[in-house]
Amino acid sequence: MLIIEPSLLSANLMNVKHDLNKLSQDRIERVHIDIMDGNFVPNLAFTPEFVKRLNETTSFFLDCHLMVENPEKWVDHFEKSGADLITIHVESTPHIHRVLQQIKETGKKVGIAVNPGTTLQSIAWLFPLVDQVLIMTVNPGFGGQKFIFEMVGKIKELNKLKKHFNYKFDIEVDGGINVKTGRLCLDAGANILVAGSYVFSGESISEQINNLRQLV
Ligand code: DX5
Ligand code: ZN
Repeated sequence: MLIIEPSLLSANLMNVKHDLNKLSQDRIERVHIDIMDGNFVPNLAFTPEFVKRLNETTSFFLDCHLMVENPEKWVDHFEKSGADLITIHVESTPHIHRVLQQIKETGKKVGIAVNPGTTLQSIAWLFPLVDQVLIMTVNPGFGGQKFIFEMVGKIKELNKLKKHFNYKFDIEVDGGINVKTGRLCLDAGANILVAGSYVFSGESISEQINNLRQLV
């Protein structure tokens, strides 16, 4: 099952309500919220308060992608704000196992993310703990960057491991996703496509979403 997950980083923040309404009309069920602290990545984005408002005013499944150092400090804030899934980067803490457990204990879904420079071997032992593995297909921090094609092999390898051990986690990809790169990721085994600039910077949000839907 293909899931298209628009990244709100590229939504029109002067008129975010309009974009959110469009997404619901287009039967989008999940949105992607990037949290950046200016340390783990060289940018700042979104807060627990924003997630709280989304939770109060929409019915989307809220996938929170934490690009922050010391993610353990933020797990409880996002849990209280109504996040449905909390993804943390393996590179962001020396205590990855502990923080994944911390997320699990909140009852929320658990995600682990890897930067392009990080190998799957470094997270394979954590697969039994997670509901989602996020393969970054750009260096995190900004929307609108170019897809790193070398990541397609990584997605294939992950999918192979998933099948071999019969894991149930979702494979999400994030960064530079459009119709062409989305096709490659789906063929490699991803089932969740995060797309920011592709969805929000075209002529019409509906049309862009429709183009991605037609990949299956
Ligand atoms: C980048 C973020 C992405 C970003 C993707 O660090 O994690 O979620 O919004 O944007 P596009 O789809 O424009 O590459
Ligand atoms: Zn993201």
